[in-house]
Amino acid sequence: MRLAGRVAIVTGGSSGIGRGICLAFAREGARVVVADLREEPLRGRYHETDAAPPTAAAIAGSGGQALFVPVDVTEDAALAALLEQTVAHFGGLDILVNNAGIHIPGNSQDLTIAQWDRVVNTNLRALFVATRLAIPHLRRSPHGRILHVASVHAYGGGAGPAYAPAKAAVVNLARDTALEVGRDGITVNAIGPGYIATALQDYLEPAQIEACRQRTPLPRLGRPADVAAAAVFLASDEAEWITGASLVVDGGFIASV
Ligand SMILES: NC(=O)c1ccc[n+]([C@@H]2O[C@H](COP(=O)([O-])OP(=O)(O)OC[C@H]3O[C@@H](n4cnc5c(N)ncnc54)[C@H](O)[C@@H]3O)[C@@H](O)[C@H]2O)c1
Repeated sequence: MRLAGRVAIVTGGSSGIGRGICLAFAREGARVVVADLREEPLRGRYHETDAAPPTAAAIAGSGGQALFVPVDVTEDAALAALLEQTVAHFGGLDILVNNAGIHIPGNSQDLTIAQWDRVVNTNLRALFVATRLAIPHLRRSPHGRILHVASVHAYGGGAGPAYAPAKAAVVNLARDTALEVGRDGITVNAIGPGYIATALQDYLEPAQIEACRQRTPLPRLGRPADVAAAAVFLASDEAEWITGASLVVDGGFIASV
């Protein structure tokens, strides 16, 4: 087991990619805090249509240890309480996965400024606040890890004026924090998923999903488990000398110019 005994917080851990990361971490022996707005997994109209049971229950059912903590990552006090509860329950923190994120469709004319703020607060600001709160605890761990779930949209436009810039900033946030905490032995990395089959894709029309499938060189769309495998690697001892990096997990989506 590559993460035996480690304590991990995964934001957005009830659904989709975050749920996949929680399940994979637990299989590797980690004790997992599932931090999410909701406990029930989202059910998408195309993907994850019958996701169940809740992540912590699924982990417990397989003999692992997990705790669900209701959290809105855009509320600083809720994040502070999450850190306190984690340390009180499991005795410390080794891994923070900043995964919770939202997408609101719209361009510069029809995305409202309030929506822009919501996307940037959830997809960027919350990652900074959680990171800031986690670092004092991670400094006490011999295996401190921070992972940010970014996106292929960090590397190009096309997902709107809030989502793409926030994801690009997340990649650079990982680099900046990596410089700050390297001497503490804490690594900070980003993962850039391509199209992953989750409820996040509900805003798309079937023809748009098919276009993503066509544009992906490998012959299928991504799954939460594909991203989770990268997260396990970056959280493990095998990746102890990798920091400030971003690992694209996209079936080759952005390989072409
Ligand atoms: N699905 C994809 O194709 C894809 C591609 C690139 C990047 N990503 C990123 O991966 C991450 C996870 O996406 P997903 O596809 O699993 O999404 P999802 O919608 O399936 O799940 C997101 C989870 O986050 C939770 N969440 C949302 N806002 C929250 C908040 N304010 N506080 C706490 N929890 C909150 C939701 O309740 C949900 O359980 C996001 O950061 C997303 O931008 C997804």
